[in-house]
Amino acid sequence: MVTIAVTREPAEEPRVAVSPETVKKLSAAGATVRVESGAGLRSRFSDEALKAAGAEIVSHEAALSGADILLAVRRPSPDDVKALKPGALVIAGLNPYDDRAGLDALAATGASVFAMEFMPRTTRAQSMDILSSQANLAGYKAVVDAGAMFGQALPMMMTPAGTVPAAKAFIMGVGVAGLQAIATARRLGAQVTATDVRPATKEQVQSLGAKFVAVEDEEFKQAQTAAGYAKPMSAEYQAKQADLVANHIKIQDIVITTALIPGRPAPRLITRAMVESMKPGSVIVDLAAERGGNCELTEAGKVIETPNGVKIAGPLNLAGTIAVNASSLFAKNLFAFLEIMLDKKEKKLAINWDDELVKGTLVAKDAKIVHPNLAQQS
Ligand code: NAI
Repeated sequence: MVTIAVTREPAEEPRVAVSPETVKKLSAAGATVRVESGAGLRSRFSDEALKAAGAEIVSHEAALSGADILLAVRRPSPDDVKALKPGALVIAGLNPYDDRAGLDALAATGASVFAMEFMPRTTRAQSMDILSSQANLAGYKAVVDAGAMFGQALPMMMTPAGTVPAAKAFIMGVGVAGLQAIATARRLGAQVTATDVRPATKEQVQSLGAKFVAVEDEEFKQAQTAAGYAKPMSAEYQAKQADLVANHIKIQDIVITTALIPGRPAPRLITRAMVESMKPGSVIVDLAAERGGNCELTEAGKVIETPNGVKIAGPLNLAGTIAVNASSLFAKNLFAFLEIMLDKKEKKLAINWDDELVKGTLVAKDAKIVHPNLAQQS
């Protein structure tokens, strides 16, 4: 019998690692799921609902004590991991590039620690991809929040009393979050343009009915890595990109920035001077705030207003602001990954350590950091 622990996340994290749906599935697969009382509350999963799905609702200590697996949204503390069975599995969002000392301390517990952020981006792993499931929700919420902050209508409306013009929205960075931001802004009736450095995004932008604007030179043609991510761009490219953005941004009402490069600070795409050129009342939502921001003036976790009347939001956990949806999808991602490690017939763990998804996400094992992306930093 496999025992799975889920505890309350830290105060700043409203999400939770299981939902009634995944508790039911895990129980059906022969696992015992122990959930700390109140862990699901901020995702509107009551203790009763989780219990009805098959969970044992217990104290923090009782959830962890001797468990085989800990599921979490955020990186758990080494103390919590020490309370599990020796060599237990920890499967969580680890923010693996941050706080290396903390990661080393987690590794030192001897647990097998998996970073869900490192899930390979393959077809098989799509249902396990927390970056995608959460970025999609963040992209949606960024536009809804921007619309609320904008204080003007988004769609064009032709009324007997006159015409309301469509708002102009510019989406910078067209990964998962950016694509959803485009789709949402279009649904709300905005006139949408978007930019990215990866050529593959051009067609995606156009297929969503938005206009693609970018510096499409030779470097642009090579900007995508084999893993599907963007490369850091040269100073020369950045200068050309800045010229283009400077001209375009002046006339925008809403700008959503989502540009990221894994393991690096966010690329700086909007300077102070660009913000100063924008119209009063316009809004920037910077989804890269956690990694330093795409806009020079972004303050992480805050909404600021510049002297020329531009509001800049730097939200830190936008998916967490729609925690019901975010937790439901996050929990499903964890379940899908766990499913490949469970022998449902024998009701025990059966891990194939050579599986590309297991190898791809395993960060620490036997008290050592084992992931290639983290090797040089130790
Ligand atoms: P991300 O969060 O790492 O970056 C967001 C976007 O910012 C990317 O589109 C990137 O090209 C862009 N960017 C980086 N530097 C920039 C700059 N200087 N200027 C403008 N834009 C810049 O990316 P995300 O959302 O994680 O997606 C990366 C890729 O992976 C996408 O192609 C996505 O479609 C793909 N993907 C594939 C999956 C699969 O096959 N299973 C699952 C999820 C995503």
